[in-house]
Amino acid sequence: MKQRATFNSKLGLIMASVGSAVGLGNIWRFPCEAGEHGGGAFLIVYVFCVMILGMVVMLAEFFLGRASQQDSVGAFKILAPRSMWKILGYNGVIAAFLIFGFYSVVSGWTLEYMYQSITGNLNANSVEEFTENFGSFTSDMFRPILWVLVFTLITHFVVLSGVKKGIERASKIMMPMLFVILIILCIRSLMLPNSLAGLKFFFNPDFSKITSGVVLSALGQAFFSVSVGMGCMITYASYFHKSINMPNTAVSVVTIDTLVAILAGVIIFPAVTSFGISPSQGPTLVFVTLPNIFQQMPFGSLWSFIFFVLLAIAALTSIISLHEVATAYLHEQHRMSRFKAATIVSSGGFVLGVICSLSFGVLSHVKILGLTVFDLLDFVTANLMLPIGGMFICIFVGWRVNKKVLKAELTNNGTLKFRLFSVFVFLVKYVAPIIIALVCIKQLGLF
Ligand code: TRP
Repeated sequence: MKQRATFNSKLGLIMASVGSAVGLGNIWRFPCEAGEHGGGAFLIVYVFCVMILGMVVMLAEFFLGRASQQDSVGAFKILAPRSMWKILGYNGVIAAFLIFGFYSVVSGWTLEYMYQSITGNLNANSVEEFTENFGSFTSDMFRPILWVLVFTLITHFVVLSGVKKGIERASKIMMPMLFVILIILCIRSLMLPNSLAGLKFFFNPDFSKITSGVVLSALGQAFFSVSVGMGCMITYASYFHKSINMPNTAVSVVTIDTLVAILAGVIIFPAVTSFGISPSQGPTLVFVTLPNIFQQMPFGSLWSFIFFVLLAIAALTSIISLHEVATAYLHEQHRMSRFKAATIVSSGGFVLGVICSLSFGVLSHVKILGLTVFDLLDFVTANLMLPIGGMFICIFVGWRVNKKVLKAELTNNGTLKFRLFSVFVFLVKYVAPIIIALVCIKQLGLF
């Protein structure tokens, strides 16, 4: 049999996994969720969800991927032959595709804003004007679609170049850049007048703000942010070398992802309060509020250019991982060449991206369950498919997988110490599925 692709180095594999995790979820979705749900209060619930539940699901996915050496569907076929469990894998492939659809649209926006920053077209006179510009751009017939195409082509090219030469190399170059840019922007933001008020909003928890709705959004955000619940980490772990310490890797990836989300908050909230804008703006926070703020700073276009480069890099390394889930599935389960598999995914993803993009313009009146196509895909994937997928992944690993096999894989056949193994088993068997189930039931309004 042909030898399976692997990541070359430990650093490369961590960069690729962190690249998948750190994305628009951290820099665009997280501050907006935190702003809407009371800042510090949301932060605490979020950190609990991501450090406990996100970590547990991630390690469970790492196990599935490396033990089976398969894509997200193949993993269940190998570990539970002739059973229904492979449906979980299909859930993942479909989720990857659907997330790709709306993610490529927002990724495309980052390119437009990069472009506008250098050409100096980002300027406007008031928040209203920024909002209007954003609205007329996103509802345009062609421009956003052009950027979706550009973004999809870049993704296509990286995925086509393969696991080592494409994904690993791109992540190893781009992730350090991202960290440098993050730190620079943080320092800049903290130097603004009145930045303390923003930090206070972000870090000072007001416990009266913690409602069931806050918990719910925090859980969905946690899974989305660390890319778990749909087999993305199964696919990546299938490229891990057998000597990799997976518990440590999971801790590193989740910790770095959480740090980046917090740093994004440290960039955005001081900037927002410093210019007297309400932090609970919603999804336009990053595309309307920030350009407005940057404009009022010296060298504003430069800062906004740097910021949107950051966002584009983060988006690219994440969308690559979504693409890879579907590509690996077609390549391995349907025996297609990587070229054919990637081409099908890119073309299909692009069509979906076009529909999502048009849902801000000509298709904005098309509503399913009261939501536009874009909002529907965001809601269905982040709030249903990921939590439910994550819950069943925990149930599978906790109840179906033989504990000896689980322990052998997670300790590299006993050569590593994993002292918290029994804690992990307890969490994956009881705690995670029960909490997720409660949250999902609540989400569906069943109690
Ligand atoms: N985690 C990425 C972000 O924060 C998005 C992402 C990439 C993702 N792969 C995923 C989300 C798999 C859910 C599942 O932006």
